[in-house]
Amino acid sequence: MKIPVITIDGPSGSGKGTISQRLARQLGWHYLDSGALYRLLACAAQRDGVTLDDVDGLVALASRIHAEFRTDATGDESVLLDGVSVTTELRTEQAGSAASQIAALPPVRAALLDWQRRYRQPPGLVADGRDMGTVVFPDATTKIFLTASLEERARRRYNQLINMKKKVSLEAVMAEVRARDERDRSRSVAPLVPAADAQLLDNSALDIEETVARVLEHARSLT
Ligand code: DC
Repeated sequence: MKIPVITIDGPSGSGKGTISQRLARQLGWHYLDSGALYRLLACAAQRDGVTLDDVDGLVALASRIHAEFRTDATGDESVLLDGVSVTTELRTEQAGSAASQIAALPPVRAALLDWQRRYRQPPGLVADGRDMGTVVFPDATTKIFLTASLEERARRRYNQLINMKKKVSLEAVMAEVRARDERDRSRSVAPLVPAADAQLLDNSALDIEETVARVLEHARSLT
């Protein structure tokens, strides 16, 4: 039998990560944070002096690196790149922006396909990203395209960064979110667009619990 997959795609700040993790925990399913794989590759490139436009270097690096995701008893996540923690580094705007740049390169996307698909394990997978429903898991059981207004998404990202004790302004965060949206939407390969069979969900006015409930409601309506 096909292993079920719920895909949650959408722009940065739409709450994909939090919603997907909650869903996976509630269902007892696996979780794929595909953005983290792009971020990891970007961090590894920086570590090894591979430039962000060196396609061959990036593809070779993708087959070499070893990543490990750990979640402790309190739910805190740590990420190891070749045994070294990159948990904080991975979440910086710099890593996000570098990830977005390398994500525009078709051979890099192709190099990460199998890695992402290996997460599809019983009893099921919740996959979050930009192209989960369109490219990586086109046969997913449930596809959601999650979004929120630019202002709301920038405000959420700003609060996250402030909680991480970063010195940032809301204006700068909004400019960064807008630029990343633009790049992710306009790239020629796997652009950020909803799958034809995805359910659109705007959660500008919904909290986390309400959003999770809506996704589960939709998933159940399909079975
Ligand atoms: O979701 P995130 O912010 O961690 O993703 C970082 C970047 O990686 C994002 O700007 C675009 C890219 N990405 C992608 O192109 N495809 C995915 N499935 C996930 C992320």
